[in-house]
Amino acid sequence: MPVTKIVQKDAPVLRQIAEEVAVKEITSKKVQDTIAKMKRALSREDDGVAIAAPQIGVSQRIFVVSGKLLTRGKEEEQADMVFINPEIVKLSRKKQKMEEGCLSVRWLYGQVERSEKATVRARDEHGKLFTKGASGILAQAFQHEIDHLNGILFIDKATDLEDLPPADNSEQNNG
Ligand code: CO
Repeated sequence: MPVTKIVQKDAPVLRQIAEEVAVKEITSKKVQDTIAKMKRALSREDDGVAIAAPQIGVSQRIFVVSGKLLTRGKEEEQADMVFINPEIVKLSRKKQKMEEGCLSVRWLYGQVERSEKATVRARDEHGKLFTKGASGILAQAFQHEIDHLNGILFIDKATDLEDLPPADNSEQNNG
């Protein structure tokens, strides 16, 4: 299978409002292929923690969080987690400025104000509804990825943007 490219910031697809996935389409080959491509594209990025479908050129409301991020602080290795038609159902009022980058905005980094906690309701790759709460980096990833589905890039919100070459940013969070 050919390598799936992660599109970069001037691609029009990154500025579109992504479309909802019909629930009965979730198990279709087409949607499952999109999810597989997203997982593969994410796995190739050492510094990637999450990816949204528009980043591989598909304007649908899907994002994937890397198992690497979900495994932090846990004993057992976690699999990648798929969020389809995600909705933020709760955001903490308390916000914090967090360092942020993006797989589609190489190699800029900046400070973005994000709610410390976020709860998302979505469907998994089998179409099952679930709700997941998070804090810290995972909550940040939820907010960053849902922004992608609404045509928003972190550079629209960030302050103190700087260009960091790949060798220096291995500790950053990119989605
Ligand atoms: Co991003």
